[in-house]
Amino acid sequence: MAHNPLAPEWLSPPADANVLTDGLWPASAHRSDDGAITIGGVSAPDLAARFGTPLYVVDETDARTRAVELRRAFDTEFARIGTTVKVYYAAKAFLSTEVARWMVDAELNIDVCSGGELAVALAAGVAPGRIGFHGNNKSVAEIDQATRVGVGTIIIDSPIEIDRVAAAALRHGIVQNVRLRVNSGVHAHTHEFLATSHEDQKFGVVFEDAPALVTAIRAQPSLNFLGLHCHIGSQIFGVDGFAESASRLLSLHAELLTDGPVPELNLGGGFGIAYTSTDDPSPITDLAAGLADIVAAECARRSIPVPVIAIEPGRVIIGPAGVTLYEVGTIKPVRIGDNTRLYVSVDGGMSDNARPALYGAEFSVRLADRVTDADAALVRIAGKHCESGDIVVDADYLPGDVAPGDLVMVPATGAYCWSLASNYNYLGRPAVVAVFDGEARVIVRGETIDDLLARDTGIAETAHEATTRSDNEMKESTR
Ligand code: LLP
Repeated sequence: MAHNPLAPEWLSPPADANVLTDGLWPASAHRSDDGAITIGGVSAPDLAARFGTPLYVVDETDARTRAVELRRAFDTEFARIGTTVKVYYAAKAFLSTEVARWMVDAELNIDVCSGGELAVALAAGVAPGRIGFHGNNKSVAEIDQATRVGVGTIIIDSPIEIDRVAAAALRHGIVQNVRLRVNSGVHAHTHEFLATSHEDQKFGVVFEDAPALVTAIRAQPSLNFLGLHCHIGSQIFGVDGFAESASRLLSLHAELLTDGPVPELNLGGGFGIAYTSTDDPSPITDLAAGLADIVAAECARRSIPVPVIAIEPGRVIIGPAGVTLYEVGTIKPVRIGDNTRLYVSVDGGMSDNARPALYGAEFSVRLADRVTDADAALVRIAGKHCESGDIVVDADYLPGDVAPGDLVMVPATGAYCWSLASNYNYLGRPAVVAVFDGEARVIVRGETIDDLLARDTGIAETAHEATTRSDNEMKESTR
């Protein structure tokens, strides 16, 4: 079929709009004999019938495998340059107790950035020593809790936190391992990176201020300085931005070594994934090899020992393992000049996937309940919210006979969709179901109308009054 001029440049009409594009779907996703998309051995219509829609579905084996393969790739490449790697799973991408356990099984550590994320990790039974605690504005109470439970590392994000963490550690009679988050001046997004001398952003401390701050950390008997931390951005494809940042960090790291030990260096997270057929992220093994080469070369150049390296990926582990399943409600062909765009509205939207509205993020979509040889049509998957920017998939092609009641699936929604979900328009946040070997189980239940009403004190008051009234009536009647 011909390219629809309303489609973006990068989107070509597919030869077959039923095909699950390589690189976008969980490893087990395929079409079963009846044409339905099946993940983890469970078909989309079965999932919809059992759990309703919208529904987040996570392929457990895929998530576990990605975690293990990433750790192995980094272990192997950094062993080659004579050091070890600590991999932290960035919980902000998606966190539930179940997923935290998958990550620990894969021998990953967990990076949290709030008291809430810390509570989930602890509830999952994650050993506190495996937890790294981030945040540009950790509350005093959060710092107190983190030091009390014994988190492995706290990442100091501003000068004021040095005293706060030191005081909390002292209160609990411990020596707290800390990293210092610095801005390397490198900011990366997908293919490009920007390198500046000063970064105008809320995270971390100014590069040039780091030596004095490390001196202040080292002066605190209740703190143990582990090393520098830097996170240059998210959804990054190449190794160049990491290379530039690692080079800058290692120059600072070398300078700090003249006054004391600096055993570790944390390079942050940010490895990108494919959301559409044109995204082509580097394989993890290439990234691991590239980063190891850079670290080795930069350390050799400065004649310093290779530190233990830490990294904090989130999206690349859980993103491709998750999909979202929706049911189509309405379909509206909108003619623009000589061309037509099919608006396909589904039963979720920006409340379960805020990324298109927040970042202009692109996604892809496939019909999930059947295959058809109808000609492909340009579609826009819209949500059901009262907002014109409520778009889940800005542009893709679906078979033109897509109809109300069809199921559609959006791949690569495992990261930053559930974790960014809201109750906009009082929609309940969907359940998260893990699929594995033909079985599906709820790992986070969906919200009900009762959940949505539960925090409204006006309703609670009325309910309370009603309860009191009926209690009094009961007493009256028993007199
Ligand atoms: N470490 C730090 C300090 C971070 O701030 C982040 C992400 C990560 C690690 C993990 O990055 P990842 O490997 O997952 O890219 N909501 C946005 C992404 C925000 C990322 C925030 N920080 C999105 O949906 O694209």
